[in-house]
This record gives sequence, C-alpha cells and structure tokens, in this order.
Amino acid sequence: MMKNTFKDDFILETGLAAEVIASIVDKAVKKYKIDAETAAGMVMETMEKHPKFIRLLEKGLPLKEIQKTRAYYDVSNKARRRIYYELRQYHKDIAARESLIENLSVSSRSFGGDYTEIINALAQSHVSTRERLSSLDIFYRELFKYIGLPNTILDVGSGLHPLLFPFTGAGHSVVQYIALDKDKTSISALEVFSKLLDKNILQPMNWNIKEGWRVVQERTAIRRFDAAFLLKLVPVVYRIQRGLLDILLETPAQTWVLSGSRTSMTKYVEIEKRERRIIKQFIQQSGKQIIGEFSTEDEFCIIVK
Ligand SMILES: C[S@@+](CC[C@H](N)C(=O)[O-])C[C@H]1O[C@@H](n2cnc3c(N)ncnc32)[C@H](O)[C@@H]1O
Repeated sequence: MMKNTFKDDFILETGLAAEVIASIVDKAVKKYKIDAETAAGMVMETMEKHPKFIRLLEKGLPLKEIQKTRAYYDVSNKARRRIYYELRQYHKDIAARESLIENLSVSSRSFGGDYTEIINALAQSHVSTRERLSSLDIFYRELFKYIGLPNTILDVGSGLHPLLFPFTGAGHSVVQYIALDKDKTSISALEVFSKLLDKNILQPMNWNIKEGWRVVQERTAIRRFDAAFLLKLVPVVYRIQRGLLDILLETPAQTWVLSGSRTSMTKYVEIEKRERRIIKQFIQQSGKQIIGEFSTEDEFCIIVK
C-alpha cells in the first residue's frame, strides 16, 4: 500500500477526511443507486464549500465526535441532496447513452452511414469526454508532439475517450488500441464503435484495475505498449481505491500520458492544484521522468517516460 505523504495542511486528503467522506458515502450508496467514486467526489466538493466544516476537520477530533456536530449534519445533508439531484441527471445520461448505442449499432449495419452525430452525442453523455470536446484540436495536437507515432496504445480507465481519438488522422500509426474500463456501458458503446473502424484496431475490454496486467498482456499478446493513457484516472483512484495505485504504477507502457481536471464537475471549485499534487507524487513513485506538459481549458496533461 502507498503511504500518504502529502502535507498535513491538505486536510481533505488526510485519513480522517477519508473516514468522514466514507461515512457519508456508505449511507448514500445504500440509499441511492450511485457508485462510491462519484458519490465521494460530490461529498468532497460539498465539504470544500463549507469552511466551518474544514475548520472542524482541522481540529482532528475522532469521527464519532465529528458526527455529533451541526457542521457534519449540514454537510452530510447537503451532500445527500446534491447526490440525489446529480443522480437524476446521471440516469438521463445513461438512458440517452443506451439509446445512442442502439442507434449506432443499427446504422453501423447499413452501408455508408454517417455516424459523426451519434458519436458526438455519445461523447456528450460522459462527463470526461464532454469536457474535452471543446478543445479536441489542441488536446491531440499537443499529445502527438510527445507520443510520436505509436503502434500500440493502452487506454486505462478509458471511459468513452476512444470515440474521440483520431484513428484516421494524427493517430493513423496505431494498429492496436486497447481500451480498459470497469464500466460496462462504456465498454459496450466502444464495442459497437470498434466495428466501424478498420481491422480490429480498437479492442475494448471490461476490466478492473484490481485484476492486474497479466490478463491484459495475455489477451492482447502485447507485453509492453508504446504508450498508455491514464486520463483523469489517477486522482479518481487515489480518492477511492488508493491501494490500486500500486498496480497503476506497473502500467506496461514506455510512455505514459497522465491527466487531471482543472475544475470540478460543477465548475465552482478549482481543483487543479490538488489533482496535480496527486499526479506528481504518483510520477515520483514510478521513477519515470517528465518529458512534457500541456493544458487545455479543462484538463492538464503530463507526459512521462
Ligand atoms: C474520470 S473518468 C475518465 C475517463 C477517460 N479516461 C477520459 O478521460 O475521458 C474515470 C474512468 O476510470 C474508470 N475506472 C475507475 N476505477 C476503475 C477501476 N478500478 N478499474 C477500471 N476502471 C476504473 C471509470 O469507470 C471511468 O470511466
């Protein structure tokens, strides 16, 4: 397991904060159909907007004492209301995504169809790709400066990112693009999309980090990839399943592209500083060297070798 070596002043990253967040998240995931990762993000954002609660955390009281306070009561109520609100939105997104996958599947069977609109709408249905849509040109122009002409790519926690990847443009050198995610709806969208591409280039796999690399290496017959994307992934895993970072540290690729968000899901809170700190520590532990960095409006990327 990785040790938390962040500065003590970063109160929302301490073990105590994690305990408090977990206490609210555990109740929320029982009550609402939401995954712990999304819920924890919302709880954290709610806490950030409550200076009184942050000051309470700084006192370092035990969880049981914190739970008796008015500030805890307020924060957990607000977080739960926020989760409920976002959940309704999320279900709308999922329903939209499922019907788009169906449309894509139907039109992929008809000859010469134009899928651009469906693919754009699908990319809109996942928050990470939605945020990236407005700066795609800069994103890939900068990215390819550092990764050159890779043949093999491993997209770890891919979400729907492969939908946007320029397979016929700057990424034309890619012959195998393996997209890994634990989220089944993302993987089934990618499976349909992969049929529209040439020669089995895109291979989506339903996979959880905890399964490790061997299963990926065996199924793809690739021991080491030219490049790996860990886009908006490390901070998420750090917050929710810190122990899995040890597996990500062994990502079998020569070059890694790591990224983080610059603003939170709601756009109220600047989170770049915190995400950078998490990613920089991860890089330090990996022993790799930074070869470049760039930012778009919503995302910062660090490339290491
Ligand atoms: C913030 S999204 C980023 C998606 C994509 N990389 C992008 O930037 O567009 C994080 C993704 O990581 C995936 N993920 C989180 N924990 C994971 C795990 N333990 N195993 C596999 N995938 C995971 C989620 O399902 C989600 O699709």
